[in-house]
Amino acid sequence: MKKIYLSPPDVGPRERELLLDAFDSNWIAPLGPHVDAFERELAQRAGVAHGAALASGTAALHLALHLVGVKPGGEVLVSTLTFAATAFAATYAGAEPVFIDAEAASWNMDPGRLEEELKACAGRGRPPAAVICVDLYGQCADYDAIEALCARYDVPLIEDAAEALGASYKGRPAGSFGALAAFSFNGNKIITTSGGGMLVSRREDWIVQARKLASQAREPAPHYEHAEIGYNYRLSNLLAALGRAQLEGLDAKIEKRRRVRRFYEGLLAGWPGVSFMPDAPHGVSNGWLTCVLIDPAAAGGDREDLRRHLEAAQIEARPVWKPMHLQPVFQGKRRRGGAVAEGLFERGLCLPSGSNLGAEELKRIEGALRAFPGWKARVGS
Ligand SMILES: Cc1ncc(COP(=O)(O)O)c(C=O)c1O
Repeated sequence: MKKIYLSPPDVGPRERELLLDAFDSNWIAPLGPHVDAFERELAQRAGVAHGAALASGTAALHLALHLVGVKPGGEVLVSTLTFAATAFAATYAGAEPVFIDAEAASWNMDPGRLEEELKACAGRGRPPAAVICVDLYGQCADYDAIEALCARYDVPLIEDAAEALGASYKGRPAGSFGALAAFSFNGNKIITTSGGGMLVSRREDWIVQARKLASQAREPAPHYEHAEIGYNYRLSNLLAALGRAQLEGLDAKIEKRRRVRRFYEGLLAGWPGVSFMPDAPHGVSNGWLTCVLIDPAAAGGDREDLRRHLEAAQIEARPVWKPMHLQPVFQGKRRRGGAVAEGLFERGLCLPSGSNLGAEELKRIEGALRAFPGWKARVGS
């Protein structure tokens, strides 16, 4: 039986066409016409003027911290409910991550907890060097509150929009919040370049500097001249071609992912012990992943029972991110709250959500869900 993956790549003839165009032009390098065009097109989609195409979303976060002046020994406030890359980026800059709990309404950074921590830092006379706020599973955080707090305490805000391309908050696109924003085009994201990322900003000087740092900080000279430490972080022209084709199909992919979510909502409505990640009224999610919460007492099994049950049917599901403050590598780091994120990890499961899920696959998923021992007797087959 063919495995159904959580969020596989979704490519077609247009991707093949542009990829071959890049190949045939012999621009097989981390620069070229597709890189330039992808930067323009992606930045436009994010509602900002400038973008630097990079090797990963993690590289984008690292450079963002560098550009806002995060130095070794500084502190960076980070959403605790996220993929590790958000917090790793702070450590690459030599900074200490401080973890902020999620709010139940959107699963994103809780502005109340952020305010508490900013106030405490100000009280100690040691303001953080930056805040990285994540748009989890394709849904924007509450930016009216978060931007206002960062402005009040004069702390640069970086938006980790790795999962949220195409989402919006009060009509503003993901990627347009804070000083800089990072996108990921990793293989499981809503659009993919197999691996890749983009740093976007309204400030052209930052993006010009990001491109330079990402190209080993080469100075404009005929020989190789370096006045600062650089990185090898640029995106290949081949992959940018793939990214352009994917971006053309973004709206269709969002619609398909949202349709998958409606399928789950229709199917699971009224089933005992299951609820959905809330669609916060402040925005429109890109539907990247459909996530549910499982109440073991009512569902007759916990989220791990359900995950294993689906796995046995060759269906991939994944627990919600394990909060960063629970990760062994970040043991002992400071945090503000954490119980909300812990509860979401304990009960949360991400279901297969790919934009290329077909009717047959949805039928298989439905059959497996109906056969979960906790639901079988109650919902029928
Ligand atoms: C929230 C978040 N931040 C950062 C990243 C890192 O992106 P990349 O894998 O492109 O380095 C990812 C995904 O991989 C992510 O989900």
